[in-house]
Amino acid sequence: MADQKPAAEIADLLQEDRTFPPPEAFRAQASVRDEAVYARAARDPEGFWAGFASELEWFSPWTSVLDWKPPHARWFVGGTLNASVNCVDRHVRGARRNKAAIIWEGEPGDRRTLTYFDLYRQVSQFANVLTSLGVRRGDRVAIYLPLVPELAIAMLACARIGAIHSVVFGGFSAESLRDRINDAAATLLITADGGWRRGQVVPLKQMADEALKETPSIKNVVIVARLHDSAAPVHVKEGRDHWYHLLMQEASYTCEPERMDAEDMLYILYTSGTTGKPKGIVHTTGGYLVGTYATTKWVFDLKDEDVFWCTADIGWVTGHSYVVYGPLANGATVVMYEGAPDWPQRDRFWEIVERYGVTIFYTAPTAIRAFMRWGTEWPRRRDLSSLRLLGSVGEPINPEAWVWYYRHVGGERCPVVDTWWQTETGSILITPLPGLTTCKPGSATRPFPGISAEIRTDQGETVEVGGGFLVLTRPWPSMLRGIYGDPDRYVTQYWSRWTPDIYFTGDGAKRDRDGFFWLLGRVDDVLNVAGHRIGTMEVESALVDHPRVAEAAVVGRSHEIKGQAVAAFVTLKEGVQGGDVLMSELKDHVVRKIGAIARPDDVIFTADLPKTRSGKIMRRLLRDIAEGKALGDTTTLADPNVIARLKEQYQETGE
Ligand code: WT7
Repeated sequence: MADQKPAAEIADLLQEDRTFPPPEAFRAQASVRDEAVYARAARDPEGFWAGFASELEWFSPWTSVLDWKPPHARWFVGGTLNASVNCVDRHVRGARRNKAAIIWEGEPGDRRTLTYFDLYRQVSQFANVLTSLGVRRGDRVAIYLPLVPELAIAMLACARIGAIHSVVFGGFSAESLRDRINDAAATLLITADGGWRRGQVVPLKQMADEALKETPSIKNVVIVARLHDSAAPVHVKEGRDHWYHLLMQEASYTCEPERMDAEDMLYILYTSGTTGKPKGIVHTTGGYLVGTYATTKWVFDLKDEDVFWCTADIGWVTGHSYVVYGPLANGATVVMYEGAPDWPQRDRFWEIVERYGVTIFYTAPTAIRAFMRWGTEWPRRRDLSSLRLLGSVGEPINPEAWVWYYRHVGGERCPVVDTWWQTETGSILITPLPGLTTCKPGSATRPFPGISAEIRTDQGETVEVGGGFLVLTRPWPSMLRGIYGDPDRYVTQYWSRWTPDIYFTGDGAKRDRDGFFWLLGRVDDVLNVAGHRIGTMEVESALVDHPRVAEAAVVGRSHEIKGQAVAAFVTLKEGVQGGDVLMSELKDHVVRKIGAIARPDDVIFTADLPKTRSGKIMRRLLRDIAEGKALGDTTTLADPNVIARLKEQYQETGE
């Protein structure tokens, strides 16, 4: 293993020059083939976005496209619309009425297909249910569900009545759920009796009950019966808890949609940052819908006959934008799959592609690297000839994985779009256009038309060719409008590094001679583990919360499959001894506090952490140790011996 890595890295470097123009058959049918779209959008970005906006349905038109008072933007000012009308009603009026909107498959193999008409009726019914439980326009609704159609239905039902949804990924812990409910003061929670993951029940209601002990704002809980009799009976609290299917039986099929202002909040989605507390990213209605609609249409070259599968969980922004809002606003057929890619076998994804004739497949590099590791026999066993376009998102994709994906999944017919964006950006911002861009494996290529991205130095100088911080220099419709309940943090976090009109992404990147962007990972204390964003401070607070821990420092190290792994350096309280038992106890403690995605891969007990004379932990050195690299400058250390001891220890405990 150890001696393979340098060879792979060298191979990657040698491949950096390889270029992949759009396969000819793809190009010939692609909707966007004219390079002039970039220049046109650059000349008049507002007009460009307004073009897409006018393809949506509005109750009343906007009076101006953009009102920009840095760092606060309002898009489609004065316009009114409803997201659920755009995702459902307008398709029901025409030829898409009986088209499949959602093709769903549960992990155990159960299947359901909902047409646009089905979706329309169920969204309206559930909107009526929400109203009957006292939810009003502007109220926050928390959603903690497995990947079932009811998740999309619940989101759209909220949108229909003007309630703001806050989806919490089902893999988050009870405490994480509690904190998110409380931050938004949600009045209703939608959960399920459970879900399936790798053949195991995920006991969502049980976790929710734990959270609900300390969520005073919650008045009602709706429980989706996903498991029925296959799980232990769930606790139903009289007067507060209600079964989804029973409420739906009573509900009317018609529900007048609310007329929402373009700038009314559509949802809150929490994401990790550089502090111990996740941020509630706020997205509004008009701009967000325009951004997700436009990018789904162009980046994925979407056609009416496509079967679109984005494998992300809806609990992340990728699922919000490219399982729900973007594809449904386009009237597409989406595939949703509840479970793991290797359950019951390592060809589950390819089996699904074959069964439903998936044409567009969008997944994360961490999954692609796992497929590579599992070997080509798994995709080879299935008929993948329906695929015509592949996408990647969530973290930098190494050229080796890009080429493997192109060859062994796409059969060298399908362009690969490496799409860069963030929870905050709402929709894809740096990406190839598949009928137009000659791709370089490992590069997300160019900003989407209408988007202005640059590389800046620490001093704020623009770098034409070379590395630095990735910034955005113009507002875009689906940009975040704020951090829920924390207006100052919105300004300081994103718009204060230089002037208030420059958005700081938190990513390092370089730009090459062709103007292509190469993403290099986060430059702040945020990790990207298997495509999921984890704040090192959050993991540190979880560790320090354990009664035996005195201090903790968490850093990322590279990991073959997950991109990054979590390495925790821990000092224990006086008289406490480290050991295997305590090590797994600490890992479990983090899982209990945050969720399984944050479980540390390595826990290294140490008597001291490397600190500067002023007491600041030197994470850079810890990162070097965790990576097994030569150490950088150690002259500012208060006690240089700490490092030598740690290095020795890491080699003993680490791989
Ligand atoms: C961070 C955002 C929005 C997608 C899911 C993650 C990293 C995302 C790429 C890419 C290199 C990428 C960045 C970004 N990232 N896509 N194609 N190439 N890096 O959303 O949790 O908000 O994380 O993911 O570091 O800042 P998120």
